[in-house]
Amino acid sequence: MKRSWPLFVVLNLALVPLTLSERLQESPRIRAERLRARLEALGEIGRTPEGGVSRPAFSDSDIRGRNYVIGLMKESGLEVRTDPAGNIIGRRAGKDKDAPPIAIGSHLDTVPNGGKYDGALGVIAALECVQALEEGGFETRHPLEVVIFVDEEGGLIGSRGMIGELDGKTLDHVSQSGKTVREGITALGGNPDHPEGARRAKRDIAAYLELHIEQGGILDSRKIPIGIVEGIVGIARWDVTIEGSANHAGTTPMDQRRDALLAAARLILEANRIVTEEPGSQVGTVGRIQAEPGAVNVIPGKVDMSLELRDISMDKVRSLFSRIRAEGQRVERETNTGISFTAIEETPPTSTDARLRDLIRESAADLGLSSLDLPSGAGHDGQSVARIAPIAMIFIPSVGGISHSPKEFSRPEDIADGTRVLLRTLLKVDGANLDNP
Ligand code: HGY
Ligand code: MN
Ligand code: MN
Repeated sequence: MKRSWPLFVVLNLALVPLTLSERLQESPRIRAERLRARLEALGEIGRTPEGGVSRPAFSDSDIRGRNYVIGLMKESGLEVRTDPAGNIIGRRAGKDKDAPPIAIGSHLDTVPNGGKYDGALGVIAALECVQALEEGGFETRHPLEVVIFVDEEGGLIGSRGMIGELDGKTLDHVSQSGKTVREGITALGGNPDHPEGARRAKRDIAAYLELHIEQGGILDSRKIPIGIVEGIVGIARWDVTIEGSANHAGTTPMDQRRDALLAAARLILEANRIVTEEPGSQVGTVGRIQAEPGAVNVIPGKVDMSLELRDISMDKVRSLFSRIRAEGQRVERETNTGISFTAIEETPPTSTDARLRDLIRESAADLGLSSLDLPSGAGHDGQSVARIAPIAMIFIPSVGGISHSPKEFSRPEDIADGTRVLLRTLLKVDGANLDNP
């Protein structure tokens, strides 16, 4: 006898709350083609002739990129606001309105002539997760927040604003766009005169997850699709000013010069020697240099340049710096110039949360993806957020280990897999009871 279920019983079955694992079985589906199309569209904003992307924070292209993404955020039903630090925050309600939100996101600003995946991947993937939840009719327990941090490349500016570290010195610093950070944040709709309004306290965020390209070559060379970030290196940056005397390049004898660029060259070589000779994986870079007046027939009277040191140990960074500064004193005596160092940023090395790493590992395994635990040589906003919430990062391979370059590339299948792992991890975090103890 064919048994027909009365309608109300069938409907009730549909209302029975799914267990987390049942939900994960049915987990909402991301759309790889939409991911790809949006990344390509974003990559066209600030596109350079070499095929790279230039969206320095606070520039017109950064503002256009932000507006494009704000449009997508609104399309996916997020409640969008800009906090006083200029961070964009899109909120999706959860069942438990009192629960702290789970935050996912990254940054949209880029280095000059950089790649189209650094930062953008994490933003577009976060939006894809929200859209998949919407389309799948999934309501998470926790509210969700998609966070787009301001000026990550300039020194984690927006995420430092979220932990109350946007001081006057930082706000007055001239950014890559030529605007001061203060002017830039104002142009983005923030309120730098009251940065405390951006501050989030401990427990305000249940957990922060970021999908990012590795920017190094480990995953690609080992053909592993998912990286589980163990920790992020410490980074210290200085502005270095070298004062000499501008003079005539033809009439000034070699032994009567105060050549600021010669002093800079010798300091750079000494810094490179000191960092290279030290055992370990530390790195040191002079990425920016400007000689004044910059004329071919004038001995440079002044040089401004950057110095950056990174290592998982901040003690090592500080000891390398003191040795470089000592060499600088010898160089200034021998070249009759003056060399000064102004500290710009010191971001401590940061560990990710072991429980979140386990959930990423599980999510990758659920999806049949191999994964590898590895450190991040690149800095990330998670280093700031880690001060108020547990953080975790998921890496996907950078082909050839190239980043901060027009040649930066990640495969569409890795992008889709990374986004699936992000979404699955998010659902696992939502089902766990981590709530930022
Ligand atoms: O510089 C970095 O490590 C990052 O890409 N902002
Ligand atoms: Mn980045
Ligand atoms: Mn970067």
